[in-house]
Amino acid sequence: MSADLPASHHGLPGIIGASPAMREVFRLTRKVADSSATVLLLGETGSGKELVARAVHELSPRRTGPFVRVNCGALSESLLESELFGHVKGAFTNAIENRTGRFEAAHGGTIFLDEINSLSYTLQVKLLRVLQEHEFERVGDTRTITVDCRIVAATNRDLGELSAAGKFREDLYYRLNVVPIYLPPLRDHSEDVPALAQHFLKTYALNNSRAVTAIAPESMGFLRTYAWPGNVRELENYIERAVVLAEGDILTSDLLPPHVRGEAPQRVGRATRSDLQQMCTDLVALGLSQSTEDGTAHPHVMGLVERELILQVLRMCQGTQTRTASRLGINRNTLHKKIDEYSLHAESR
Ligand SMILES: Nc1ncnc2c1ncn2[C@@H]1O[C@H](COP(=O)(O)OP(=O)(O)O)[C@@H](O)[C@H]1O
Ligand SMILES: [Mg+2]
Repeated sequence: MSADLPASHHGLPGIIGASPAMREVFRLTRKVADSSATVLLLGETGSGKELVARAVHELSPRRTGPFVRVNCGALSESLLESELFGHVKGAFTNAIENRTGRFEAAHGGTIFLDEINSLSYTLQVKLLRVLQEHEFERVGDTRTITVDCRIVAATNRDLGELSAAGKFREDLYYRLNVVPIYLPPLRDHSEDVPALAQHFLKTYALNNSRAVTAIAPESMGFLRTYAWPGNVRELENYIERAVVLAEGDILTSDLLPPHVRGEAPQRVGRATRSDLQQMCTDLVALGLSQSTEDGTAHPHVMGLVERELILQVLRMCQGTQTRTASRLGINRNTLHKKIDEYSLHAESR
């Protein structure tokens, strides 16, 4: 566990990493924490954004105040609006009571707006006002409420690209982007994999009363070279699984999923990897030819790929949204929105 030492010296409690990229994350987090500046956390899913958001709060003078997290990708627009801003009795059909919103709940503390990229245009306008004036009204109310809360937002999409494509307000993007902190994907700081793996090994051995104490060199080799599309969260899941299944005191490589060991070409239905590559090539060509305006190619192509992915999994799950969402690892409401966005109603039930 020697790799833990630098992390606890210069780093942040509970956040493992000694690579230059993670040190930069620690430096920025410490530096920004005692200010009241808005922080924008950028990075792929599972890369540690929420962990850093909590650290910003814990290291700030607001640490004794509340830390409130809202996942903006998990709720429909109207539910999210009343979740964030609250509503008054009678504001809409189901508003049988007055309700305090999350901004009010975060007064004196920090509000963490996760998946800010999924915020609708209307709510982007309301949020901009909170950022600029610190005020808003509850849904259905005329009384203006003033709050004092620090905003930390996270996105797994490039807001600059989204705003170039007209999907995210540019003024809001600039307001949020005061201090951006970029969480690198795990594949770009694989030198941190051993310390992370040891950390999770220790945690899950303790939680599950397992006597696993070491990771076999061969296992560590696989862990270091795997590409980790799901980042630290994916590593954490595989270590937990391996610890639970382990018979002895060593985490041997047979306890790791075959694809981490570089075995078993991943198959999706009857398609092989090269079929997939072909499909991607076709989608990219199509997307590039369809995106006529400058700067829209990336979001457009990604949209096509995402639509195809959702379509395939919906078919695989016979249109059952609950199963499709869990298969994809996304929230049902997110799936619902995407089905709307990509007009996939015919495929789903
Ligand atoms: N550097 C790190 N050290 C220790 N645990 C981490 C680190 N980065 C991520 N994790 C763990 O991985 C999981 C995913 O992290 P999270 O902050 O939720 O990612 P994100 O919000 O970017 O999706 C969490 O269980 C978190 O505790
Ligand atoms: Mg997250």
